[in-house]
Amino acid sequence: MGKTTTAINLAAAFAQKGQRVLLLDLDPQGNSSISFLEPHVINLSAYEMMVDGQQGWEGYIYQTPIKFLDIIPSRISLAKLEAKLVGDFDAPFRLKDRLDSLESSYEVIIIDTPPTLGLITVNALVAATHVLIPIQSSFFALEGTDDLLETIEKVKARPNPNLNVLGAVVTLHDRRTTLAREVHEQVRKVFGAQLFETVITKSVRLEEAPAYKESIFTFAPHSSGAIEYAKLCEEVLSRV
Ligand SMILES: Nc1ncnc2c1ncn2[C@@H]1O[C@H](COP(=O)(O)OP(=O)(O)O)[C@@H](O)[C@H]1O
Ligand SMILES: [Mg+2]
Repeated sequence: MGKTTTAINLAAAFAQKGQRVLLLDLDPQGNSSISFLEPHVINLSAYEMMVDGQQGWEGYIYQTPIKFLDIIPSRISLAKLEAKLVGDFDAPFRLKDRLDSLESSYEVIIIDTPPTLGLITVNALVAATHVLIPIQSSFFALEGTDDLLETIEKVKARPNPNLNVLGAVVTLHDRRTTLAREVHEQVRKVFGAQLFETVITKSVRLEEAPAYKESIFTFAPHSSGAIEYAKLCEEVLSRV
């Protein structure tokens, strides 16, 4: 859907503005992590952070090659989280409780989530102040949106009344096709004013940048991806 691409490049956009940013990878596949780190340097990760009782941050936070951007990476072990915390009454609050002590160290914390609505995503929604929903411009664009919005409403009703839907952004858009234009109209009907004006178009540069451990802003600063993610960053700032 463009979740990881949006998380890493928005994080880089904020860092480029001089904000202290933490990118938290909560997807067991670890795609955001390996966009900025070599896999072999990752030892402690999001899994240990949420499972171990200790409160310090030593070893969990890694510097990326990008100034002002730190990361808490994930590894495949994170897929065990649900089984590990089964029956634990504070399971949905693990991340929130842990992040409380980090609030003053960063201006922005961006969480990249897995594609499922299980315990990991619930932890992210309980800890977050805002949700940004990337929507892939395709025939299946709105598939799963109802379930996501329902989960957000449930989390808002009880554990996190402060949660806001920041907006939805269309990604992987191909301006040349009629289908893409139709999908955009459909998404606008569903999200109304919540839809970001910025559209992220399809660009090979966005796919390539992570292979070089770079953000789009250093890898291809004049590409459509760089311009669009910088614009999205401004729009996000105007809404928070
Ligand atoms: N705007 C874009 N243009 C071209 N490729 C993109 C774009 N956004 C994402 N991709 C590519 O599409 C694939 C899925 O995107 P990704 O951001 O990893 O989605 P998710 O995290 O939701 O699974 C990746 O290979 C990524 O490089
Ligand atoms: Mg991803």
